Amino acid sequence: MEAFVIRGGKRLEGTLRVDGAKNAVLPILAASILTEDKVTLEDVPQITDAAHMAEILEILGCRVTRSGRVLTVDSGNLSQWEMPDRLSKQIRSSIFLLGPILSRFRKATVTYPGGCEIGLRPIDLHLRGLRRLGVVVTEEGGLIHCDGSRMRPGDVYFDYPSVGATENVMMAAVLLDGVTTIHNAAREPEIVDLQNFINAMGGHVRGAGSHAIEITGVKHLRGVIWTPVPDRIVAGTLLAAAAITGGEIELTHAPGGDMVAVLSKLREMGCDIREEEARLCLRAPARLTAFAQLQTQPHPGFPTDMQVQMLALLAVAEGTGIIVENVFENRFTHAGDLNRMGANILCSGRTAVVRGVEQLYGARVTARDLRGGAALVLAGLRAQGETQVDQACLIDRGYDHLEDQLGALGADIRRTAL
Ligand code: UD1
Repeated sequence: MEAFVIRGGKRLEGTLRVDGAKNAVLPILAASILTEDKVTLEDVPQITDAAHMAEILEILGCRVTRSGRVLTVDSGNLSQWEMPDRLSKQIRSSIFLLGPILSRFRKATVTYPGGCEIGLRPIDLHLRGLRRLGVVVTEEGGLIHCDGSRMRPGDVYFDYPSVGATENVMMAAVLLDGVTTIHNAAREPEIVDLQNFINAMGGHVRGAGSHAIEITGVKHLRGVIWTPVPDRIVAGTLLAAAAITGGEIELTHAPGGDMVAVLSKLREMGCDIREEEARLCLRAPARLTAFAQLQTQPHPGFPTDMQVQMLALLAVAEGTGIIVENVFENRFTHAGDLNRMGANILCSGRTAVVRGVEQLYGARVTARDLRGGAALVLAGLRAQGETQVDQACLIDRGYDHLEDQLGALGADIRRTAL
């Protein structure tokens, strides 16, 4: 087991380039099996979720090679339609493979997927969407069997704009003969990237980024070289790291246009932010000011994946603020650790009331999920003394060597084996 050890108090300064987005890479890796040709992805971060997804693809029969930040998937010999149990339980994104596998084999068997422990995270919307495309789903002993022998295009309406379910139905419909429409689709920028990737392979998808996505089936997709969009959550986390230390940083290759909600909250807290093309410059005040309220929402609302980092910022801001988590039901699990570091956070159900304190103190704390782990690191950057964040492996799921990135900005942080 590894941990991050941080000595707080350093003001972050400098320039950093933002990595390719985890949430774009994962569905695109899944979609790469929609063609038998070779797919090359550039700028893929070294994160364990991507490594696990690549491992699943290999078990299914693909040849996956990695050279630095370039990943190549050759699914010409794809032979398996049953998803490996252990890895599926490790990452929730394994569920993305359901649509593409059905598209290739017209059958698929999956187990209930895993991922962060941030709530129930059911897959009913995925299954309901696929049923609308004629897939017969039966569940037996923890396994989900999908029979796609009668798959056809259709009209899919989601009661809630689930990101994963939208992507799954998109991928399942790409090779069906006719037009599929997804209503009340999720609008996240990574869905637009998936659409653009599929279209670059010869698919015909339009409307991503809006509430209605139309997929006109094509007979065949070809290989492509693709660079996923930059990671707006990593960018947001780095800005938050600078903000909590009263620092001044510049991010290049940053998706500012997709970060309106996050930038607006950081500005409300007193940060001066300049946006120029793919560049974001943030200058933080010595002490942040609390915003009155933040509510997480599907995009373009405030992203749930940035909520807990803002909780850490609010913990040391001047004044009192409220955060309401509307997307996942169990996302304040790190409030207890922040309180152990001196914060004053009161949680009840989906609401957290935060009274800002002047100082946090180093402590030994534990990451329980990816973003919560990152938030504890941010708190450590600001705390007096030494903070140890256990379970660095959870942070590695979505941040490429966070210690190197923050270290490059002047943070005193190291990885240690326990
Ligand atoms: C994706 C992101 C994740 C982000 C989340 C919300 C990826 C790889 N992951 O996850 O980082 O936190 O969007 O922005 O892109 N739900 C159901 N039934 C379903 C599916 C979802 O009830 O079948 C619920 C979930 O429990 C949750 C909400 O819908 O409460 C949002 O989930 P969803 O949008 O599907 O998130 P993911 O695709 O899992």
